[in-house]
Amino acid sequence: MASVLVASNRGPVSYTLRDDGGLDTRRGGGGLVSGLSAVFSEDSAGDGLWVCAALGDGDREAVRRGIAEPGVRMLDIDPDVYADAYNGIANSVLWFLHHHLYDIPREPVFDAAFRHRWDSYRAYNRAFAEALAEAADEGAAVLVQDYHLALVPGQLRALRPDVRIAHFTHTPWASPAYLAMLPDDIHQELVEGMLGADGIGFHTGAWADAFRADPQVARAAGGSRVSVHPLGVDGDELRALAHRPEVDERLAALRAEVGDRKTIVRVDRTELSKNILRGLLAYRELLADHPEWRGRVVHLASAYPSRQDLESYRSYTAAVSALAERINEEFGTPDWQPVLVSVQDDFTRSLAAYRMADVALVNPVRDGMNLVAKEIPVVSEEGCALVLSREAGAYEELRADALTVNPFDVTETAEALHEALSMPAADRAERTKRLAAAATALPPRRWFLDQLEALGGAVRA
Ligand code: G6P
Repeated sequence: MASVLVASNRGPVSYTLRDDGGLDTRRGGGGLVSGLSAVFSEDSAGDGLWVCAALGDGDREAVRRGIAEPGVRMLDIDPDVYADAYNGIANSVLWFLHHHLYDIPREPVFDAAFRHRWDSYRAYNRAFAEALAEAADEGAAVLVQDYHLALVPGQLRALRPDVRIAHFTHTPWASPAYLAMLPDDIHQELVEGMLGADGIGFHTGAWADAFRADPQVARAAGGSRVSVHPLGVDGDELRALAHRPEVDERLAALRAEVGDRKTIVRVDRTELSKNILRGLLAYRELLADHPEWRGRVVHLASAYPSRQDLESYRSYTAAVSALAERINEEFGTPDWQPVLVSVQDDFTRSLAAYRMADVALVNPVRDGMNLVAKEIPVVSEEGCALVLSREAGAYEELRADALTVNPFDVTETAEALHEALSMPAADRAERTKRLAAAATALPPRRWFLDQLEALGGAVRA
């Protein structure tokens, strides 16, 4: 039994099956995981439980063998139900709606097959609600994370009226007109599911306003409180990570490759909403229109493969590599490669790139927060100029010291890159200091405890 519970699709650990039948354990990274250290701190050990889904065969095998980290419970959901819920609804429908990603002449299509997948989404949410209901102490606090688990608050409320429930959305919230594409009954189920929570959280005022502006939300008139908790980064922890010997090694190798050229750094999942293609087009336009930068700048792009079960993500990843190659063919010389792309989940390389960033490019078409925009100024050694999309959640906190752009405007982005590269060192250093201060204002642990406090519980942590 637990007094503080967290639920998220992706948990703090994952397992992979080796050829010899053994299991390798891998710790998940990211803000959520470090934020949750509050629950698993020495004081509250034994009181916290993190419920997550078994994502693949390794995780499922771990569940079957009874292998689990203390304080973590993985749910072994039927693989077909899971695939329909995760790929078919969460990532293909809810993600697309909240990020306004649909190619409207063709998508979305809400037909019988969609309704079948929605049934799986409901069942997957129910598996979480049941596990939480079973494990929660009387009056426990339950923090449910993200669009994967939008129905859990309502389902859990029905099973356990005594527990206190918060739901936090890490994505944007769709504009009312966009969300209105959902069939009315499903739209209502989604919103009412979330309104089963006592508190509903978002990273920015813009997403909270979009939620409140949804006519279905107004109609359902639940007793939930909507609040804004902009997740930041833990500066000390991040700097420590960025100065491990393996990062030093990678940094030396990258420096040898880049020489004394300036760097434009970007790090993303190969995610449709991250706008990597327009970022590359902007870099191309910079080299075309400001030839003085040819040979004097390198674009370091890290693009972690993501959601490769979805065709649109596979082709996007391929398009990113192809465009980078084209730019290299068009402008490269025997001793200068304009773009260095790494299509790998390689956080060590990303941290090394952060340290040597002169310019950070963060240009999503729409993004719940975007922690990369907060991480780079904390870690960059010489100070970096941040080119930031006005559609990123981080824009609300960082706009004053960033060069802000409309992410669809490639020419404006190219000019912002030029301005960023040309920024005097003193100005850059001053801005970076202020960006880093804003980025670390609400570190994950504080972010997490604030939400617990907002639920009204005295929590040991
Ligand atoms: C976003 C979502 C997270 C998700 C992450 C990675 O940040 O808000 O909930 O875990 O993307 O996506 P994935 O599908 O790999 O979990």
